[in-house]
Amino acid sequence: MVKQRIFVTGGAGFIGTHLVNALSRDAAVVCVYDNLLPQVHGEEARHPSLTDHARFIFGDVRDGTALERALQETKPHIVYHLAAETGTGQSRDEITRYCDVNVGGTSRLIEAIRRLKNPPARVVLAGTRAVYGEGAYRDAHGKLVVPPPRTAQEMKARQFMPRDSASRLLHALPTSEKTPPAPASVYATTKLAQEYLLNQGFEGTSVEPVVLRFQNVYGPGQSMGNPYTGVLSIFLSQILSGQRLNIYEDGEITRDFVFVKDVVRSLELTGRIGLPRGSIINIGTGQGTTILNVARKLLNILGRREDDLDITGDFRPGDVRHAVADTTLAAALVGWHASVSLDEGLRLLASAPRTPSADGA
Ligand SMILES: NC(=O)c1ccc[n+]([C@@H]2O[C@H](COP(=O)([O-])OP(=O)(O)OC[C@H]3O[C@@H](n4cnc5c(N)ncnc54)[C@H](O)[C@@H]3O)[C@@H](O)[C@H]2O)c1
Repeated sequence: MVKQRIFVTGGAGFIGTHLVNALSRDAAVVCVYDNLLPQVHGEEARHPSLTDHARFIFGDVRDGTALERALQETKPHIVYHLAAETGTGQSRDEITRYCDVNVGGTSRLIEAIRRLKNPPARVVLAGTRAVYGEGAYRDAHGKLVVPPPRTAQEMKARQFMPRDSASRLLHALPTSEKTPPAPASVYATTKLAQEYLLNQGFEGTSVEPVVLRFQNVYGPGQSMGNPYTGVLSIFLSQILSGQRLNIYEDGEITRDFVFVKDVVRSLELTGRIGLPRGSIINIGTGQGTTILNVARKLLNILGRREDDLDITGDFRPGDVRHAVADTTLAAALVGWHASVSLDEGLRLLASAPRTPSADGA
């Protein structure tokens, strides 16, 4: 049997490393294409902590020639596109950088794939729930609405909850794929552009684009030296260095935390099974947890007092208030649902050995 050849952009990153290790265990031939971004990997990064079975190509998705050469050499059956600039807050100040990598990198990837004699059957994009912005809410009349992004003025006045035009509170719902996109940050805008580009760029070709929209992914291996990374890695790093945690807004921001092994399983399954062309699928647990609650749980697991934190009212423009996935489609189309509970995942995160790259060194 021909071994599956798989090409993973951003395969040296947090999710990528877990994915590549899992794919290699399944005996696929994996090629990682990654520029070891110093913000993620540290200035001295030379080689990622990948399995010996994966080939590593140091390259930038903005370099179309190098990308095409790597794809020509690999001749992949499947491409996973994970390479991206990922900080929501940072994206507001680094608009061109985020557009160049996330949008320009994706356009170059599509063009390089289209020039292949035997293109891959499928390109799977690591998308994000950020494309929904505030996501689905129910108004006082029971109607489904997507509130506009919260303004800095509202948040300064500590009005954190989305409201309707008559200032009535809205009720947050799990967000399904049918919810119209409404990105609230530059990062989210670039990630939505990736989705559109993949669908439009492969229209009329044999390549099937699939988008998985991840909720907040957490687990061992997420860069702890990157100040723009996931909130749980930031908390972990602050707890380990003896700091008190700064809890934004009033602590009641809600997130759907999904463990990295579950996310990897969704990527693997998506690469293997038949799916309607252009499928877009939410990946999350379907359970929301407040930031205050998750911070207390992590403090507790690491033997610190649960009140070693400050609810400061600080906020970041572009942050959304509630994020919980409706995962009905993932179950129906992919047969996937999250299997690791938050308590178990946090214990695994807290007890994992910390590698130099995870520390961002
Ligand atoms: N982690 C999450 O919670 C989450 C949630 C939703 C979506 N995603 C998406 O999943 C993907 C992977 O995220 P992650 O958390 O593993 O991030 P990460 O920062 O750990 O990994 C990204 C990888 O891409 C590489 N990269 C960045 N710019 C590049 C470039 N110009 N050329 C080549 N490689 C480049 C980095 O070196 C890094 O290894 C991203 O596309 C992200 O948007 C992540």
